[in-house]
Amino acid sequence: MRALSGIQSSGKLHVGNYFGMIKPALELQEKGETFYFIANYHALTSVTEAEALRASTRDVALDYLACGLDPERTALYRQSDIPEIHELAWLLSVVTPMGLLERCHSYKDKLAKGIPANHGLFAYPVLMAADILAVQADVVPVGQDQKQHVEVTRDIAVKFNQKFGETFKIPEPLIRESVAVVPGLDGQKMSKSYNNTIELFAPQAETRKAIMRIVTDSKTVAEPKDPAACNIFKLYSLFAPEQEREAMAARYRAGGLGYGEVKKALYEHFRTYFEPFRQRRMEYQNDPERVEQILQRGAARAREELRKTLKAARRAVGLD
Ligand code: ADP
Ligand code: TRP
Repeated sequence: MRALSGIQSSGKLHVGNYFGMIKPALELQEKGETFYFIANYHALTSVTEAEALRASTRDVALDYLACGLDPERTALYRQSDIPEIHELAWLLSVVTPMGLLERCHSYKDKLAKGIPANHGLFAYPVLMAADILAVQADVVPVGQDQKQHVEVTRDIAVKFNQKFGETFKIPEPLIRESVAVVPGLDGQKMSKSYNNTIELFAPQAETRKAIMRIVTDSKTVAEPKDPAACNIFKLYSLFAPEQEREAMAARYRAGGLGYGEVKKALYEHFRTYFEPFRQRRMEYQNDPERVEQILQRGAARAREELRKTLKAARRAVGLD
């Protein structure tokens, strides 16, 4: 089994990214071959400052490693280190119907928000398809919001195979239903574009402040509460072991539990959970040469697969 996934380098990673994508992706390291990369070409559709893109690309590499990416098992690379990906994207784009891209939620959402549409934003899913098909991935671990993009990839691959002969493996999205959408501080999907995130590696005082800002209803301490309807509880459940979670749910229902107390418990869990990650991140941060080496090695590995795929695709269309 081969897995591939990417994260855009367009901001700080948050709890939604971790539970929605990074954690499930890293668990696959035990089960097969894994390719995880930093989607910095994709990030260019929103990041317009060169230094910000550089910094964010470095950050995402450190974040992956901090969260437990094992460079001995996983090819970790920067998308921009394999520019040949664009040739594959072009070969895919000629079999991609306009309508398929026009229907993409993430494109439509951005238009609705008044973000001016450029071709990069529109063609985004085609480049994503190239990322996935380049290494002939079987599964793509992502959060719910990326499911449609993986479906677009499947459609494109099927079309190409029908037109030019069997070239690409058809990948499956892999979505953890239990954490499909992690809520943000305001109860909407946690997302950097909504400014409602709990960052993974912010200074601890900031994390605490963010957690204290989680929106709740206005029930008094004494009133019984419904844990399933509470954002704090949803976040708490990502960290707390089952028994603790059940005990907390019972206290919600019984009344006498204030939201402030649950926020504190959530903060403590967050801190304990991410402390070893924070330490590991620091170690890598202090050794930029090692990180660079890992990225170069990862790119070489990804390129090896990409070259094979590209050769087959060029032959299929008559460019050999
Ligand atoms: P953002 O919405 O903050 O811009 P990205 O789109 O960069 O996040 O997402 C990177 C990965 O993390 C994707 O696989 C995405 O599905 C996952 N992800 C992002 N936010 C969440 C969330 N709130 N819940 C679950 N998964 C998420
Ligand atoms: N679009 C993804 C996101 O915003 C990032 C991404 C780019 C990706 N290429 C990919 C994810 C290939 C999975 C596979 O989160």
